[in-house]
Amino acid sequence: MTRHNTDISKKDSFLKQLARDESSNADAAVLRNSMRRYASMSSVSALRTYAAALEDPDYSPAIRLALDYLAVARTTRGRAEEELSVAAFFGSGAATLLEGLRRSEIKDAVSLPAPLKIRTTFQEAVANRRSIRNFTGDRISLPVLSTILSAALGVTGTIRDEGSDVNIAVRAAPSGGGLWPIDLYLLPLQIGNLESKVYRYDTLRHALVPQCPLATRSAIVECFPTQGSSVKVSDTSVVLFLVARAWRSIVKYGPRGLRFAFHEAGAISEHVNLSVSALGFGSTDLANFYEDELNNALGFDGVNATVIHSIALGTI
Ligand SMILES: Cc1cc2nc3c(=O)[nH]c(=O)nc-3n(C[C@H](O)[C@H](O)[C@H](O)COP(=O)(O)O)c2cc1C
Repeated sequence: MTRHNTDISKKDSFLKQLARDESSNADAAVLRNSMRRYASMSSVSALRTYAAALEDPDYSPAIRLALDYLAVARTTRGRAEEELSVAAFFGSGAATLLEGLRRSEIKDAVSLPAPLKIRTTFQEAVANRRSIRNFTGDRISLPVLSTILSAALGVTGTIRDEGSDVNIAVRAAPSGGGLWPIDLYLLPLQIGNLESKVYRYDTLRHALVPQCPLATRSAIVECFPTQGSSVKVSDTSVVLFLVARAWRSIVKYGPRGLRFAFHEAGAISEHVNLSVSALGFGSTDLANFYEDELNNALGFDGVNATVIHSIALGTI
């Protein structure tokens, strides 16, 4: 799949090429052969696998939209609007947003203790990281949670934004343009003496702020399928939710900004997984949840704010 210089206006042929170009790539040929196997199985019924839908993007509007998205989110030379939009490193929008968050009054916040010193080496943490799916359901202390949240998204320094003349707090995980489209929410199930209700991790204060007062523990746990799932969420100690407010990136990067939100979620997840591994606990990424139900339970509209990923962690 190497010939990607097609003009966007010719997106039909671009999409077909994206789905069908196997001549230059042996891996793609193998993939497509295995797809054909499944596609032929599914062709006898009205139900189609995603592999079959990819075979014929015209047939599946949703797959087509996903591929279309890749096409419109490309950077190309000579687009003046784009160059103008990304020229400033930190826009005053980001600075204002962060300053606003810093000043707003927060009631009932739970201050987190200082993070623990992790003695495990980086190499050990990487080597021992594994997706863990069996948890013993024991309690994890608040300092351990504090350490994981701080590694995920904690403030690690400040830099001066020349444009807006304010100090901007920068964080453990990288963020495209420093716009931080991802917020971290959590449901503690067995954490210190925390109540089992939804909190937002306030990175600037290193505190937990109660959120979504109507979201009950059982309503949230039920958003994860039990049938066929290898993780029993109710046995974990805490579930983290990565909530995308993609408009924070889109306002600067246009459609490409959505990619940056997903990218940032991946970076944050890996900081979580590695710190969990270093601390001797277990975690697994959980992308398998009923999105509308979870957004509903948490009070997000699914567009301006939406859960895009979750990570369950606990004792092993
Ligand atoms: C984006 C993403 C989503 C995932 N979703 C799930 C999931 O819903 N359920 C699950 O059991 N594992 C999930 N995983 C874990 C993968 O299955 C796991 O990383 C993979 O099998 C490799 O195993 P390892 O993490 O132990 O190296 C997910 C991983 C990623 C990166």
